[in-house]
Amino acid sequence: MVKKITSSTVRADFNDPVAVVHYTRAAHFIGLWKSEQILIERFFTDKNASLLEAGCGSGRVTLGLWHQGYQHLTAFDFAEELVDQARNLAAERSATAIRFLHADATKLHECHDLPASTVFDGALFMFNGLMQIPGRENRRTALRELHAVCRPGAPLLFTTHDRDSTPTEQVLWRLEKLRWTEGKQDPRLLEFGDRYFEDETGRTFMHLPDRAEILADLAATGWKHTFDVMRRDVAREPRAVLDFSDECRFWLAQA
Ligand SMILES: C[S@@+](CC[C@H](N)C(=O)[O-])C[C@H]1O[C@@H](n2cnc3c(N)ncnc32)[C@H](O)[C@@H]1O
Repeated sequence: MVKKITSSTVRADFNDPVAVVHYTRAAHFIGLWKSEQILIERFFTDKNASLLEAGCGSGRVTLGLWHQGYQHLTAFDFAEELVDQARNLAAERSATAIRFLHADATKLHECHDLPASTVFDGALFMFNGLMQIPGRENRRTALRELHAVCRPGAPLLFTTHDRDSTPTEQVLWRLEKLRWTEGKQDPRLLEFGDRYFEDETGRTFMHLPDRAEILADLAATGWKHTFDVMRRDVAREPRAVLDFSDECRFWLAQA
């Protein structure tokens, strides 16, 4: 019997040395994408705001935020090896005021280092981290958990892929739909839209939604959708960023 992918699979894949090196290199040498920089400055206008970054990995975005002048940062990830790397990088850059936590986005309320009274002015879940949570209901749980720690009106910025982003993708997903209809999909996957693959950066689980799915998930979890845009329509990224990451859709919602 083939085992379905679980959050333990995903966490182990991110704790794998190949993935740790990949994300740590990006944190040291890539930093914020141009598009991230533009949207963060547009939607997080108060540098004194207290911000929560989910799925911080080795701290690529966290340190980017710090260098942009955001001073009240809490960042967490469920892969402890990556959090260790993020802490090291923060120490190297004299950014020890950043609070790093080891926590699971679907069980944020269980994190002892985050007192129940904590309220954030904004949250981020960048580079598709939310979509690496297996199971739609679990992704909704993560959205609810983030909503619970944000003040009313707080912005949430995150990214996803988009199954309909190009005609080629649309054709490939039509073929995948046929496989699901015939029961011939990869048996480790949970839902249509899931992918699990391995390359030189390690093993990756990713759910690729369509736009309607995310709009429904935001509405079901208390978030008000305010804006979404494909990355290519925000900025032209340098080669290093394009090599590190595929095209994605940015989402902005408000608590
Ligand atoms: C693609 S990586 C991005 C890392 C970093 N934000 C960056 O942009 O380089 C996605 C991150 O989300 C984290 N993640 C996935 N599911 C999570 C969960 N349930 N709770 C906390 N972190 C999670 C992974 O461990 C991983 O570090």
